[in-house]
Amino acid sequence: MISNKVQDAINAQINAELWSGYLYLSMAMNFEAMGRPGVANWFRIQFQEEQAHAEIFINYLVQRDGRVKLEPIAAVPQDWATPLDAFVATLEHEKKVTAMINDLYALAEAEKDYATRDRLAWFVGEQVEEEDNARQLIDKFKLIGDNGMGLYMLDQELAARTYTAPSILSAE
Ligand code: FEO
Repeated sequence: MISNKVQDAINAQINAELWSGYLYLSMAMNFEAMGRPGVANWFRIQFQEEQAHAEIFINYLVQRDGRVKLEPIAAVPQDWATPLDAFVATLEHEKKVTAMINDLYALAEAEKDYATRDRLAWFVGEQVEEEDNARQLIDKFKLIGDNGMGLYMLDQELAARTYTAPSILSAE
């Protein structure tokens, strides 16, 4: 059984992960409309990853005999002028998610809920990757600037991104 305090915090995190997914789906649709299919694909995959993050927390609460409570998902922005703008927004958002995961980790530790703390360790590592991915793409788009051929090549690269379910999810 899980404490109400930790359960409420995990439910809030489930909502945050679903909001993140909604944000990236909105970015994907923005770039579909702009004729940037590769960038759109990258964000569609990111949408799937965020759904997986929510699912990991959902499965964990169920396993701990907790109660998952799904709250409304707040509205997300709809317009980004360039891929660089979207990846800068992505990095800023992921930094906020990292802070939320760290707070959750600290709460689990304070509550002596070591099972939750262990599950959160996976997310701590995942956030390093999330921030790094966004940072690398910011660097690439900055390097390319307005070079049409460069932007076309990078779009092709992002079109090749595929979704792989996190092993923590497939192992459950
Ligand atoms: Fe669920 Fe992008 O962190």
